Amino acid sequence: MPGHTGQELYRKAKTRIPGGTQLLSKRPEMFLPENWPAYYSRAKGAQVWDLDGNMYYDMSYNGIAACILGAADPDVEEAVIAAIKAGSMSTLNAPEEVELADLLCELHPWAEMVRYARCGGEAMAVAVRFARARTGRDRVAFCGYHGWHDWYLAANLADDKALDGHLLSGLEPAGVPRALRGSALPFRYNHPEELEAIVAQHGDELAAVVMEPIRNMEPAPGFLAGIRDICDRAGALLVVDEVSVGWRLLTGGAHLVYGLRPDIAVFAKAISNGYPMAAIIGTADTMQAAQNTFVSSTYWTERIGPAAALATIRKHRRENVALHLRRIGLMVRDGWRVAADRAGLPITIGGLVPMSSFAIQHKEAQAASTLFTQLMLEKGFLATKAFNATFAHQDQVIEEYLQAAEEVFGVVAQALDRGTVCDLLGGPVAHAGFARLN
Ligand SMILES: Cc1ncc(COP(=O)(O)O)c(C=O)c1O
Repeated sequence: MPGHTGQELYRKAKTRIPGGTQLLSKRPEMFLPENWPAYYSRAKGAQVWDLDGNMYYDMSYNGIAACILGAADPDVEEAVIAAIKAGSMSTLNAPEEVELADLLCELHPWAEMVRYARCGGEAMAVAVRFARARTGRDRVAFCGYHGWHDWYLAANLADDKALDGHLLSGLEPAGVPRALRGSALPFRYNHPEELEAIVAQHGDELAAVVMEPIRNMEPAPGFLAGIRDICDRAGALLVVDEVSVGWRLLTGGAHLVYGLRPDIAVFAKAISNGYPMAAIIGTADTMQAAQNTFVSSTYWTERIGPAAALATIRKHRRENVALHLRRIGLMVRDGWRVAADRAGLPITIGGLVPMSSFAIQHKEAQAASTLFTQLMLEKGFLATKAFNATFAHQDQVIEEYLQAAEEVFGVVAQALDRGTVCDLLGGPVAHAGFARLN
């Protein structure tokens, strides 16, 4: 089994770094407990090398959705190196901030002003602060995942302490002030009646409705227009979270595809292809609320983030990256379907085309998916149930991956039939992680 040096380091990390990593989605236990390579020495395009020098093709998360162009993209690298050589930090401001603001407003004509942060969750917290400052209201209705900050985890504070954590299972709200209970109210995607019920009870206290324009399923006809209408009636702002879906469907936010007009949109991750950067864009009167509240941070002014974002967005537009992601995503989905049919493995396929996933339909599904990851790793692929396409994925890699997947699907199907999945696993079953509410 590859990846031993990484596992040794990870065992040590858990004694020095609580939880082992900084991001739930990078925990080796989420992939292949005790056998995931865990650390990388180098990453380039769709390739990644572990600490033992083994090379894998990344057919999984590709920088947890950050590396939309592929790892270490040469054009972004060049812009970042130029920013470093010109001095990444100074007492004066980086002019790239203004250039990027113009570009974001050109791509999103409804937006007039822009602020920056460096991470997705942090930028969402900024957006919620702006919405609260603009409306003078406290409560927020939301759908989906938006990060780790207090405004969001407050949803998991229940009336009864013993029930804490039940709305977003797996996300513990310990350390979030109990006084925030009732300030974040969840509803499910394509369930406007749940938002209507929140508005009926708290409409005049609602600062914002926070949601991804789309994620795992298509919006039902009229759903998004209905959300806009509910916001207008309640006097609440509509904040769209484009941290993960942004730049997947076109050069810009997915809300543009669906004709949804928000008051604020938030970008991070793929906006800068692996360098920390986040943007909060909005209408002028919403964003001017930034002047009435204190939102300010030193490293939000460094130069690498905006330089990387400008290079990423320009390449995205120039190369029509969204079209490539669609073609690669469709190739993988069709390949999964054919491979699973041939192997006799029952799967369902879901997600946005460029962020597709499959689910094995069996009561032993989690163990079977872990076995899939284990056997694909042995064949040189980082592979899970989900695949984020990048501009660096070319047909040949996809063809090799699908051939390997078909063989592995066959082994998994046979093991499920014989009840031997756990016997074939070299370690425990992967953790399922937290459950999204959408
Ligand atoms: C929709 C959405 N919002 C917010 C976040 C948080 O972003 P970050 O991990 O950069 O803080 C994520 C991360 O997965 C996300 O998918």
